Amino acid sequence: MRIISELQDKNLYYVGGVVRDEILGLPSLDMDYCYEGDAINFARTKKLNIIKENPSFGTVRVLIDGIEIDIASTRTECYPSPGHLPVVDKIGCSLIDDLKRRDFTINAMAKNTLSGEIIDYFNSNDDLKNKKLRVLHNRSFIDDPSRIIRGLKFSARFGFELDSETESLQKSYISNINYDMSYHRIKKEVKETFNLNSDKILRKFIRDGIYKLLGDNQQVPLIKGSVERLVSLINLHNPWLCYAGLFNLSNFELTKEETEIISSFKKLENRTFDTESEAYKIFRHFPDESVLLWGLVREYDLAYHYLKNLRKIKPSLNGNDLIKLGIERGKLYSEIFDYLTEEKIKNPKLSKEEELKLVVNKYL
Ligand code: CTP
Repeated sequence: MRIISELQDKNLYYVGGVVRDEILGLPSLDMDYCYEGDAINFARTKKLNIIKENPSFGTVRVLIDGIEIDIASTRTECYPSPGHLPVVDKIGCSLIDDLKRRDFTINAMAKNTLSGEIIDYFNSNDDLKNKKLRVLHNRSFIDDPSRIIRGLKFSARFGFELDSETESLQKSYISNINYDMSYHRIKKEVKETFNLNSDKILRKFIRDGIYKLLGDNQQVPLIKGSVERLVSLINLHNPWLCYAGLFNLSNFELTKEETEIISSFKKLENRTFDTESEAYKIFRHFPDESVLLWGLVREYDLAYHYLKNLRKIKPSLNGNDLIKLGIERGKLYSEIFDYLTEEKIKNPKLSKEEELKLVVNKYL
C-alpha cells in the first residue's frame, strides 16, 4: 500500500478493496480513502491541491504528485427504490455506519492512514481466513442485486464461497427478482465477472439462476460441448464480447461494438452451411466473436476451421497480375478475387500458375 504523507491523518482511512487485498497479499488497482467527517473540509484545511468537489456526495478529488485521488466523507445511504442507485442520507457519519452499508464483510474493513491500525467491526478478518463472503445485512441483495454478481466475481477471483446465510438470502432474492433495477450497475459487474472467463463462474451463473438477473426473459444458451471447452475457446477472443453475444444482453445499455456482436450472432445463429466456401462467404462479413459463438451453439469444427485457416486464405494473384493479363481495373477485380478465393478453399494447394489458368479460362 503506497503511503502518501499528505494523506496521513488520524481521521483518514483506507477502505474497501485495498484493505482486503493487502491482507490477502494481493496488489490493489485502486485506493479508496474515506474521511471520518467532512472530506471537503479536510482537503481545504490541509491545503491540498483540490481539483473537484462534490458537496452532495461529500467527495473531493485532489492532485498529489501528479496522481488524482478521491477522498470520500463517511456517509450513510438509503435506497428509495430498491435496485437503483442509493441516495446519500447523512454526510460525516461515524466510520462504523459508513462500513455497515457496504456489500460483503471482506470489503468493510478500514485501515487508519496514520497509525496503520486495521478497523474490523464485522469479523472480516475471520471471513478472509475462512474464505467466506458474508453480507452485512438481510436487505443487501434487495437494495443492490449487483452484489450477487460481485459475489460471483470475488468467489472466482479469490476462491471464496458464500456463507450459508448469505447463500439463502441470494436464493430467496433470485426466486423473487425485482426486475425494476439499474442495469447500468449490473452491467459493470457482469462485464468484470465475465472477463475473468472462468468455468466455475459460468457453472454457478447457470446452476444458481444468477443469469436471471440479466433480464426477465433471459434464457440459458444451449451450448454444444463442455463448459471447459467453451471457456478455453473464449479465452482466444474478447471474453466479454463473447458472453454479451451468448447471453444476448439486450437489456443493457450497449456500446456499438457490443451491439454489433449481439446482432451479428443473432443473424448467424440459425444458419447452416453445406460447404466450407458457403460458410466462408458469410463468415467473412461477421466479427470473429460471433463466428466463434455460432460454433459454440452449432458446428464448432467448421467455425474453428474458418477462424484458424479459411479466413487467412488469399489468392496468390494480385492486381498487377490481372493488369498483365490485360484485364482493366474495375468491379470485375473483386469478382475475380472472390472466385479465386473460393477455388482456393476447395483446393488449398492451388498454385499461382493454376490460378492464372482459371482466370484465363473464365474471364478471357
Ligand atoms: N461497494 C458496495 N456495494 C457495491 C459496490 C461497492 O458496498 N455494489 C463498496 C465495497 O465496500 C467496495 C467499495 O464500495 O469495496 C469500492 O467498490 P469497488 O471499487 O467497485 O470494489 P472493490 O472492492 O475495490 O473491488 P475491485 O477490486 O473489483 O475494484
